Amino acid sequence: MLKIADIIKLREQRRSWQLDGKVIGFVPTMGNLHDGHLQLVREAKKSCDIVVVSIFVNPMQFGPNEDLDAYPRTMEEDCAKLEALGVDCLFTPDSEAIYARGLEQQTFVEVPGISYMICGASRPGHFRGVATIVCKLFNMVQPNHAFFGEKDFQQLQVIKAMVQDLSMNLTIHGVATVRESDGLAMSSRNGYLNEKERSIAPKLYSALLTLSEQIISGRRDFRQLVKEHTLFLNNAGFKTDYIEIRCAETLMHPSHEDTELVILAAGFLGKTRLIDNLPVSLD
Ligand code: PAJ
Repeated sequence: MLKIADIIKLREQRRSWQLDGKVIGFVPTMGNLHDGHLQLVREAKKSCDIVVVSIFVNPMQFGPNEDLDAYPRTMEEDCAKLEALGVDCLFTPDSEAIYARGLEQQTFVEVPGISYMICGASRPGHFRGVATIVCKLFNMVQPNHAFFGEKDFQQLQVIKAMVQDLSMNLTIHGVATVRESDGLAMSSRNGYLNEKERSIAPKLYSALLTLSEQIISGRRDFRQLVKEHTLFLNNAGFKTDYIEIRCAETLMHPSHEDTELVILAAGFLGKTRLIDNLPVSLD
């Protein structure tokens, strides 16, 4: 596996792959890799000749009181996992290379509307940070395909909208959420949970499952459903941030005709903020 930190070196490598007619797949990450990340790599390997993974903990997408400094950095283990999967290139730029003019002077990418709701309302500026770094990484790697997890459902929709709005020349693929055996969605932030919090955490997914069954069985009193499940989560020990039932594509509130929905939820266990979601198809 090639390890490249330098943007110019990456571009040179990119040019030689292109001359060889290779199809390039890209998996952007912030490291501390688990099986959810690795599933994106496996998907990329199915359809691409070359798979590039990036690890960059992006300061622009963290709020002032969020966990940027505490975010787990496990480069050695990450490298071994990627090597074992046959990744071709690991790109690990540093902050100075990425934000050469400093964070304040950055040109940014903002996808309005979809970036301000749900998680965006709780984390102002978060999706601007995500869209900006992903756009920059796309410009560096210039992939033909890029792979994102449905675990971060809103992020996936923001990226799809950005690619469409800015006529970017690549295809975005969503990959289903990988879960622990008790249903908890894999996440780098699960490592922050203490034993008691870890035992409560799967209830977030249980709530989504029950809610989806209720919707599928015909209930349309969404407000009441959200109220009941918020209470369930709060009683279980969560401080629920939101539960939302939305249109899967636009993330707008659904009308009676909409059949492709998604339930999204976020809540705190202690200081750790967990998110999860479940697509619901009514067809
Ligand atoms: P990170 O949280 O490291 O996630 C990298 C990718 O892995 C994202 O596309 C995310 O949705 C996916 N992923 C995480 N957990 C998953 C799971 N349990 N199942 C399936 N996919 C999962 O998301 C980011 O980094 C950053 O915002 C990034 C896109 C790299 C921009 O900085």
